[in-house]
Amino acid sequence: METKIVKITKLNNDAKEKLRQAAAILSFGGLVVMPTETVYGLGGDATNENAAKKIYEAKGRPSNNPLIIHIADPRDAEEYCHTSPLYYKLAKAFMPGPLTVIMQKKDTIPTSVTGGLDTVAVRCPDHKVANALIRAFGKPIAAPSANISGRPSPTCAKYVIEDLCGHVDMIIDGGECEIGLESTIVKIDGDTLTLLRPGAVTYDALTMVCEKVKIADAVTDKLKEGETVLSPGMMYRHYSPNTPVVLLDGDDGRFIDFILSEQQRTSGKCGVICYDGEEKLIGENNVITIGKKDDLASHGKHIFTALREADTFGVEIIYAHLPPKEGLGLALYNRMIRAAAHTVKKI
Ligand code: TXA
Ligand code: MG
Repeated sequence: METKIVKITKLNNDAKEKLRQAAAILSFGGLVVMPTETVYGLGGDATNENAAKKIYEAKGRPSNNPLIIHIADPRDAEEYCHTSPLYYKLAKAFMPGPLTVIMQKKDTIPTSVTGGLDTVAVRCPDHKVANALIRAFGKPIAAPSANISGRPSPTCAKYVIEDLCGHVDMIIDGGECEIGLESTIVKIDGDTLTLLRPGAVTYDALTMVCEKVKIADAVTDKLKEGETVLSPGMMYRHYSPNTPVVLLDGDDGRFIDFILSEQQRTSGKCGVICYDGEEKLIGENNVITIGKKDDLASHGKHIFTALREADTFGVEIIYAHLPPKEGLGLALYNRMIRAAAHTVKKI
């Protein structure tokens, strides 16, 4: 399949013409990759079973792992699921933005989109290109992250092209994603929220809107044999480079000492993802920095790029700091613990 790659940075007349073409592709059941503020999404018509099938094929994703539907206005959810006052409280506080809400679905969304579940995940992205595309199309866009299943989510067009060129009809290059981590996912059950995937809308922020917020065990823990999860995506090995990743749990001084001795032991064949400034102490060879130690937003924005780039070093092992579990740290912790297949070394 030939993939058309178009660049849109401003919503000028040229961009509007490209968006019309993209919307036409979606209407015919085709696939369009769009930028969002979190990560790039692999989009198709959320009301078309065949489009959903194509998304699963292009990503190499099991078809029981449901898709998020993207809408342009929080009120549009009415047509696709059973909303509640709690939904509108969340919408008022966090939409458009990096929050996905799971509710009981209506028949307007085929079960092939929801992986056979009777619930649907809804999100209203805070990105002018994504928003304009959904409006131009006039229906919700089903979109998982635009990576091959199991690889880190793409935060710029380069990685989308690496993974999906030849498997989708169009890729819209909208530059680097602002947040870099996928949306926070919550499920509504009556007056209770369950946090299924942490993101830029933090646990603390959710508790300001809802008194009862539970964190699903799978957010931080390894699944036990035979255990089922509320969010099917949590069953799979995720965000993983091919090179094994090990998270180091200890203070910064010990981190540096450990890396220096590992660099010696492996004759330089170890990769490192670390904070700004640490490269001065361990050298710049096979080292990627993701921002100042306390700048979690910067870590979030750069972590998936760092995982992809570290994988090209040709090293035996990649080391990174174990992220904190507070604030935005919980989202980083959740992604990194999966990238490392739960391998944490106390130092
Ligand atoms: O930021 C994001 O959320 C990005 C952008 C493109 O919007 N999308 C994204 O989609 O990360 P995806 O498919 O890679 O991750 C969505 C997760 C999956 O783990 C899936 O299992 C879960 O959401 N999910 C979707 N619908 C669900 C449902 N009805 N019940 C439980 N989990 C659901
Ligand atoms: Mg994904």
